Amino acid sequence: MLHKNLGINEKGHLTIGNADVVSLAEKYGTPLMILDDGRIRRNIRLYKKAVEENFGKGSLPLFASKALCFKGIYRLAKEEGIGMDAVSVGELFTAEQAGFDLSLAYFHGNNKTDEDIAFAVSHGVGTFVVDNEDELRALNEYLEKVGKKQKILLRITPGIDPHTHKAIVTGSVDSKFGSAIETGQAEEITRLALSLKNVELQGFHCHIGSQIFEIEPFAEAASVMLSFIAYIKTQTGFEAKILNLGGGLGVKYVEGQEELDYAAVIGEMAKAIKLRAAEIGVSLPLILLEPGRSLVADAGLTVYTVGSVKTIKGYKSYVSVDGGMPDNPRFALYEAPYTLLLANKAGEKGDFFCSVVGRCCESGDILQENVCLPSPRRGDYLAVLCTGAYNYSMASNYNRIPRPAIVWVKDGADSIAVRRETNEDMIRLEV
Ligand SMILES: Cc1ncc(COP(=O)(O)O)c(C=O)c1O
Repeated sequence: MLHKNLGINEKGHLTIGNADVVSLAEKYGTPLMILDDGRIRRNIRLYKKAVEENFGKGSLPLFASKALCFKGIYRLAKEEGIGMDAVSVGELFTAEQAGFDLSLAYFHGNNKTDEDIAFAVSHGVGTFVVDNEDELRALNEYLEKVGKKQKILLRITPGIDPHTHKAIVTGSVDSKFGSAIETGQAEEITRLALSLKNVELQGFHCHIGSQIFEIEPFAEAASVMLSFIAYIKTQTGFEAKILNLGGGLGVKYVEGQEELDYAAVIGEMAKAIKLRAAEIGVSLPLILLEPGRSLVADAGLTVYTVGSVKTIKGYKSYVSVDGGMPDNPRFALYEAPYTLLLANKAGEKGDFFCSVVGRCCESGDILQENVCLPSPRRGDYLAVLCTGAYNYSMASNYNRIPRPAIVWVKDGADSIAVRRETNEDMIRLEV
């Protein structure tokens, strides 16, 4: 099986966290997202331990909650004692409603509106990750008006190629995010931040991209950032207390992809970072990481009911399911690979090559191509593995299809985390 939390039981059914996926589909209906509580906690603990061991107490993983956002996930993050990163007031609000302490929140975004700034400051967000000069001035002005001070990091683009899909690269010089070192704008915004009296500059942030399997791009980015920190110190005397290196570690979605050992990777990153810091003579700041995908992706799967199965003679076969791009737009966006199987025939060998498609009125509504399934029939349950990240949080109501429910499984028991959206929910705001 793709990950250790998955299995096949005596009925030949797929299991996740020891729960029978077919029974859950029958109980809650489909499409259904199933989340394995134990797997998320395992991933968080692994990161937390590795970060603390390698970078010292105070160094924390922050859950990049754009990967998966609903109240229950923030409750879990709170219980596990990690911080979080948010990119919108919606995420901050959800976290706050779940009882998450916003002083542990890092507020991102390349276009924070005046309303966003006011909300975040008044609700006690710990740290702003300021993207650009415009935002910095607007934040400072607001703080002046309300007589408050705010801790900030500056988002810097180190100009690194992370060897991943171009849609998920974020740290190159020509990017909508952050201020580039290469153009001198990173230095300019640092000088501006140091001159403003309502913001307290803590250090710097970078995030080079997502679904990255190699250590080198991270080590390179850290090296560039440390050199920048050293340079700024010589130019301004400012010594960064925090270096937030973002998220981005890859997850195994299909056989053939590597399953990263996150503890080992963090250990390797730490070695490279410490070496570089010693070489250039800067004292190591507190290191923060912002994993999203690698904390939640492999804890989730989505189960659908198979509907029409059709073969176009001389061409290919299509298996349609009762969800698709509204609950998982990632194939449509960037042909993201996934592992698909029939949950009620999990032990059987595939014999039927097909494209698995959704129910939307859109040819691009594809979950995966070139899938081999064991004689799929109407009424079978089809599972897409590793959907815990960037699925539910990217879900839409395209074609007025309600979003799926989310169910937790914990020690073999199940409970609802997010109710299935209804038709009434979808017209609730309409006059
Ligand atoms: C600023 C920032 N931090 C963290 C992440 C999380 O990345 P990942 O889910 O790949 O770990 C992202 C993802 O886009 C991001 O933009």
